[in-house]
Amino acid sequence: MKPIESLVRDNVKNLKPCVHGAEVLGAAEESGFKAEAILDFSSSVNPLGPSKKALDAAKKAFGQIAAYPDSNSSELRQVIASHFGGITKGNVVVGNGSTELMYLFAEVFMKKGDKALMPAPTFGEYESAVRKTGETPKFAKLSKNFTIKSEAFKREMAGAKLVFLCNPNNPTSMLIPQETLTGIIENALEQDTLVFLDEDFLEFVENEKTLTLIGNINKYPNLFILRSFTKIFGLTGLRVGYGIANQEIINVLLCAKIPWNVNCLAQAAAVAALKDEAHLLVTRELIKKEKAWLQVELGKIRSFKFSPPDANFFFIDIRKSGLTAADLKNKMLQQGILIRDCTSFKGLDEFYVRVAVKTREENERLIDALKRTVKAV
Ligand SMILES: Cc1ncc(COP(=O)(O)O)c(C=O)c1O
Repeated sequence: MKPIESLVRDNVKNLKPCVHGAEVLGAAEESGFKAEAILDFSSSVNPLGPSKKALDAAKKAFGQIAAYPDSNSSELRQVIASHFGGITKGNVVVGNGSTELMYLFAEVFMKKGDKALMPAPTFGEYESAVRKTGETPKFAKLSKNFTIKSEAFKREMAGAKLVFLCNPNNPTSMLIPQETLTGIIENALEQDTLVFLDEDFLEFVENEKTLTLIGNINKYPNLFILRSFTKIFGLTGLRVGYGIANQEIINVLLCAKIPWNVNCLAQAAAVAALKDEAHLLVTRELIKKEKAWLQVELGKIRSFKFSPPDANFFFIDIRKSGLTAADLKNKMLQQGILIRDCTSFKGLDEFYVRVAVKTREENERLIDALKRTVKAV
């Protein structure tokens, strides 16, 4: 038998797994803490966890485990369409986490030699999804203040098949100004470029309803909008996300996706989660209050530099602390707290960290540990 590696497609041979936060098990091994004892600020999900109604629905769906799930996620797609209004089930595709849809989208639309463009820094799986198709993505570096340089971005976009955008962006926690966003989409439309717009964190932004472009999918037939049940809904481990676009895009994705991609527990929980408005309301109030509190407390650490976050996480430049992000992460881990060292993000140096907004008690533990670790004044 030849070495297995010699049988692998070239572009797959060179793939490397993307680095993510929330690696609690690895952190436990490294620090000696039990995984349950580690306070995870590296993953920016609902600190209250999922709605009880969603959990009850998942439990109720245990009885369906012996059968295949609905391969089309029909009920869930219908509930998503009704939730937003103005769209139909035919405008919705559901994935095993929103990440599956990044890979599916790239696989479906990237032909040999096609160009894909994305900002740097941004979420790393867009790059991996493009690389898996055999192509190498192009990166448009964000400005010093981490905004998109609109005109330069449009120039870079010339001839691109696909553009990835994240609003608000991970890891910077910044919204793309609406004018910049629609300018890019309109420019893309003129040259038949598809725009993959990740709105996974938009539900944490106060005026989400006026900022989402879901209402514009007919105006922009080149636009695909990504959403997730991982973030504000807290169904993180169940893996369910969705995309919204015009029917032509959705039809091809539905044909190309793997069958039974979303399990029956995830489908049931997501339907119930979307209907539980009360849980969303409580979550949003908590995030608003705690974001404001953390902003004040983190602001007291003079060596930290950050902008007010648009999403539910802070993106902090720590270079004046004299520590690298890896140093700070290690020192925090010794106190049982996991933060995200952002060094792995393309376009960043080794001095940025990301921390999620959690409950008051947890946020107090974060601040106490940071103050013990970093010179506060
Ligand atoms: C911007 C962004 N989009 C998508 C994802 C993946 O979400 P999902 O759990 O739905 O695959 C993440 C995860 O961190 C993310 O930060």
